[in-house]
Amino acid sequence: MRPATRPASLRIVKRGSDDTTTDISPLSAGGVANAAAQDKFCSSTTCLITIIYDQSGRGNHLKQAPPGGFKGPEANGYDNLASAIGAPVTLNGQKAYGVFMSPGTGYSNNAASGTATGDEAEGMYAVLDGTHYNGACCFDYGNAEVSSTDTGNGHMEAIYYGDNTGWGSGAGSGPWLMADLENGLFSGSSSANNAGDPSLSYRFVNAVLKGGPNKWAIRASNAASGSLSTYYSGARPSASGYNPMSKEGAIILGIGGDNSNGAQGTFYEGVMTSGYPTDAIENSVQANIVAAKYATTSLTSGTALTVGSSISLRATTTGYTTRYIAHTGATINTQVVSSSSTTALKQQASWTVRAGLANSACFSFESVDTPGSFIRHVDFSLVLAANDGTKLLYEDATFCPQTGISGQGSSIRSWSYPTRYFRHYENTLSIASNGGVHDFDSATSFNDDVSWVVSTGFA
Ligand code: AHR
Ligand code: AHR
Repeated sequence: MRPATRPASLRIVKRGSDDTTTDISPLSAGGVANAAAQDKFCSSTTCLITIIYDQSGRGNHLKQAPPGGFKGPEANGYDNLASAIGAPVTLNGQKAYGVFMSPGTGYSNNAASGTATGDEAEGMYAVLDGTHYNGACCFDYGNAEVSSTDTGNGHMEAIYYGDNTGWGSGAGSGPWLMADLENGLFSGSSSANNAGDPSLSYRFVNAVLKGGPNKWAIRASNAASGSLSTYYSGARPSASGYNPMSKEGAIILGIGGDNSNGAQGTFYEGVMTSGYPTDAIENSVQANIVAAKYATTSLTSGTALTVGSSISLRATTTGYTTRYIAHTGATINTQVVSSSSTTALKQQASWTVRAGLANSACFSFESVDTPGSFIRHVDFSLVLAANDGTKLLYEDATFCPQTGISGQGSSIRSWSYPTRYFRHYENTLSIASNGGVHDFDSATSFNDDVSWVVSTGFA
């Protein structure tokens, strides 16, 4: 159970400019994935992670999850693929990318070999972003049904991370590490609340789960320092179907066993084993992860923004270059604005830069004429909304600008959906992906429509 190479997210990425793919391999054997090669391949376009490579030699690669009990948002019910750039980190100072998974995103392998089936023992760990989660079902990594459907209690055994309270829960308000054993997220011996399972707030979490005949355990730690704590180690749940288990051996990432795909989270690396690892082996894996020195790194590039300043954002698409991002009531649109426009219009097209409400490494944009209201996305459309103090508003209103994809200005990436950028489409604003199911996801003119010149605000 020793991580040979990290992050496990060595991957194939596909770029939007020509739909070609490339392998992103480690810089050296046992090293981290080559972020510079990815940055070069993906420069001036968008990139998605199409395959996450298994490094065990078994070929258990993870691919875009198919529809199951629930459909995903892509064509034919597939789940979304993750952006290649949503989760940058450094390991021992060297840049690497994890897998930032928005609601709707999922990977799986329904024909894995060598994974535990039936009541066989297994272990697993995953390094996750402990601050990126939600309460939907289910941000999981581990063993699940080969049909992507709910085939009954005990047909899964996967790490769950989030603050879902529909099944089990732990102390405080979450997020918690729990075990998804199908039709139940288990935090300890009770199928409901277990006060021994603490809320976690580490930026990097090492989440550990193992299960064998009538025993299972959950353990976790700060992946950047210290050692693992055991939150539960004991007998299987007494409810019917969990003892013995009926594991099926598929592998999922970011979704529930039935392709429930409303959850979000970030995966950096992980391993599944056959056999029940000893605590000592898990402790040595934790030491190895700590030695890799996970650290955060910049989420932004492009035109520098100063918190507290007022900016205006001008479209760059030919034929639209006199238009700026503005609001008409709650609608965010583009309007023709100039120095001779009315004060009211100038204010509608001016935005106060704030530290990102969900992540201070990014930004939020507050209306100059309606203080307390921010640009957020709802159903992928941008709207002006009063700050209601909710985690969802904070996340929907946080954006990470980067160097303009067209080469001009900045492209304003959604923090919570990093495949999506501020885009004008028929003069209204959405967060759009480069190709996809909505009209505003059209790949035609995408690079220009998502590139904005940032200037001092009109007002
Ligand atoms: O066990 C929790 C969830 O219940 C599983 O992930 C899913 O398959 C079912 O909806
Ligand atoms: O938003 C204006 C234009 O509408 C965009 O350039 C184009 O994508 C769409 O037709």
